[in-house]
Amino acid sequence: MHKTADIKEAVSYIQTLTNKKPTIGIILGSGLGPFADTLQNAVHIPYDNIPHFTKSAAVGHANELVIGDVGGKTIVAMKGRFHYYEGCTLDQVTFPVRVMKMLGIEKLIITNACGAINTDFAPGDLMLITDHINLTGNNPLLGPNNADLGVRFLDLSDTYSKKLRKTVLDIADDLNITLRQGVYAWWSGPMYETPAEIRMMRTMGADAVGMSTVPEAIIARHSGIETIGISCLTNMACGILDQPLGHEEVIETAERVKTTFLNLVTEIIARF
Ligand code: HPA
Repeated sequence: MHKTADIKEAVSYIQTLTNKKPTIGIILGSGLGPFADTLQNAVHIPYDNIPHFTKSAAVGHANELVIGDVGGKTIVAMKGRFHYYEGCTLDQVTFPVRVMKMLGIEKLIITNACGAINTDFAPGDLMLITDHINLTGNNPLLGPNNADLGVRFLDLSDTYSKKLRKTVLDIADDLNITLRQGVYAWWSGPMYETPAEIRMMRTMGADAVGMSTVPEAIIARHSGIETIGISCLTNMACGILDQPLGHEEVIETAERVKTTFLNLVTEIIARF
């Protein structure tokens, strides 16, 4: 569990660099990083410089927190996230959510790339997450609770805010963007699933599978942040098509859909 003093230290450092007060946070998934470069009056803060953030040497890439303006709002964007499969603890994966909360955000938009399990969906579709299934056997609230940060026994009945989802569906409608809805299964990775595992997930009621988002969503709820999740379905999950699955396909599809995804996210921020 995170320590209040560590979060305060990270926030104090950030506040030496900017006095902007973000009200919305966004975690940018695969291919969406460039969104952070569209923010105006932006301050870019490398994760490596922020106290208690995981160092990029541990996960092989340098990323940054970007605080800036878009759609008349001040937001904080995570350009790059920490993944469980990289060997990060779930405290490390979710620490930035605690920091964004203390910076003042009330709403969080979590994005990701994932595989489609529901055969009504196709690569390139966007999906609004309605709920999740945690298949990792781990979660970021295990261990002693810090009551300053949230309750011991957390209710997850509205993890992905029904109220905000309604707004997002209206926005997608207005923009003529087809937005699927479904349940996201969290798989630890880094290997993709087996065909048998995908059949199991489909039976369980999952519509999509990916390697992120759920720990951040749990900590967002624990922190009292209203949250939504949007997935880019980059491929059909393993075994659905008679073809191998590769990272190239994930990157290619994310790139193809990027503009639509960015337009949707920009409008969501403006209307939230
Ligand atoms: N499985 C898990 N994670 C993913 C996938 C997938 O098929 N595609 C993109 N991220």
